[in-house]
Amino acid sequence: MYNRKLILTVVFLSICLVSNLPSMNCPANAFTIDNGLARTPPMGWNSWNKFGCNVSETLIREIADAMVASGMKAAGYRYVNIDDCWQVSRDSAGRIVADPVRFPAGIKALADYVHSKGLKLGIYTDAGTMTCEKRPGSLDHEIQDAKTYAAWGVDYVKIDWCNTEGLDPQKQYSKFRAALAQSGRPIVFSICNWGQNQPWTWGPATGNLWRTTGDIRDNWASVLKILDNPSQQHADAAGPGGWNDPDMLEVGNGKMTDTEYRSHFSLWAIMAAPLIAGNDLRTMTQATKDILMNSEVIAVDQDPAGKQGSRVRAEGGLEVWAKPLKETATVAVALFNRTEAPASISAEWADIGLPPGKAKVRDLWSHSDRDLASNSFKTSVPAHGVVMLKITSAKSRPNGD
Ligand code: GAL
Repeated sequence: MYNRKLILTVVFLSICLVSNLPSMNCPANAFTIDNGLARTPPMGWNSWNKFGCNVSETLIREIADAMVASGMKAAGYRYVNIDDCWQVSRDSAGRIVADPVRFPAGIKALADYVHSKGLKLGIYTDAGTMTCEKRPGSLDHEIQDAKTYAAWGVDYVKIDWCNTEGLDPQKQYSKFRAALAQSGRPIVFSICNWGQNQPWTWGPATGNLWRTTGDIRDNWASVLKILDNPSQQHADAAGPGGWNDPDMLEVGNGKMTDTEYRSHFSLWAIMAAPLIAGNDLRTMTQATKDILMNSEVIAVDQDPAGKQGSRVRAEGGLEVWAKPLKETATVAVALFNRTEAPASISAEWADIGLPPGKAKVRDLWSHSDRDLASNSFKTSVPAHGVVMLKITSAKSRPNGD
């Protein structure tokens, strides 16, 4: 006997898979790229925010060394990613050519070096005719480029969206998805079309992460702008294997205070964002290290349930953000003060999805337990700062409260 409901469901999901029309209300993450990668948000480093076009094999080797020596590798950071400007031309066979002055030993040798440190190498290209910095793009070279990267031992590719007039992002990025799948090497696929064309609807079926916003800058207004971007509301598109990407980190680049960098890092963790450091790992202050390597905040970002958190309350610049964690009846919470003066902020269990009653409160920046709280937890939060908490309902424990 045919099960009619099952058949209708299969037909509906198949149409979703092929069309991915936003109007169909296809279940988020119903189809993920399923390449087995990025089961938690990718962690690593990228050259762009600090170094722009000033990339070279010396820099990348030194960053890989620093990633190990500083403890970043032990904290979970793995990918060392070269952004724009490593490429200069194509050879007579159409193969992409790395800058022979800046990368004299070539990308393969660099990948070998990075791998010898127990790390992974990432690279950058563009879906159009040229990258944003006018280097050769991958248009009509998708299969060839994916093969070249695989042969070099590349583990991660970020694909940008400059110089793509007349192209459809879903189609172009799907070509890369297929090309990478055929390349013979597992390669994390990072889509970078700045949140245009609703990537949260087709991103999960296409790549492992998709940018949801324009470029981040090393200033407070930029962090707030990204947090307020409507594209951040698509939390249900994220999950193991596919993540909304609010752009790379600016922590440690010098134009924000450490309090602001702590907020930036905490909220990226609440959003289950990729944690791609964008600073000079060779010269980090202790404060920068303490932020980027806060294992309790990283654990929130990397929580295996893979749920993206979101803003659950906002009043006069005082906000509560919450992210459900895998542990039973447990939520990560950021009390976030956007104003210019210290203020009290309260997390109400009703807002953050916990049952009424007592709960255990852990402070993830002071690394200490706070008093048991009932139904809500209120505390003072510095200007531009966060208090980040892990709250576990006593109801999750067999003996109750
Ligand atoms: C932008 C992208 C940045 C960086 C830059 C390189 O489009 O959003 O993250 O990759 O291009 O030119």
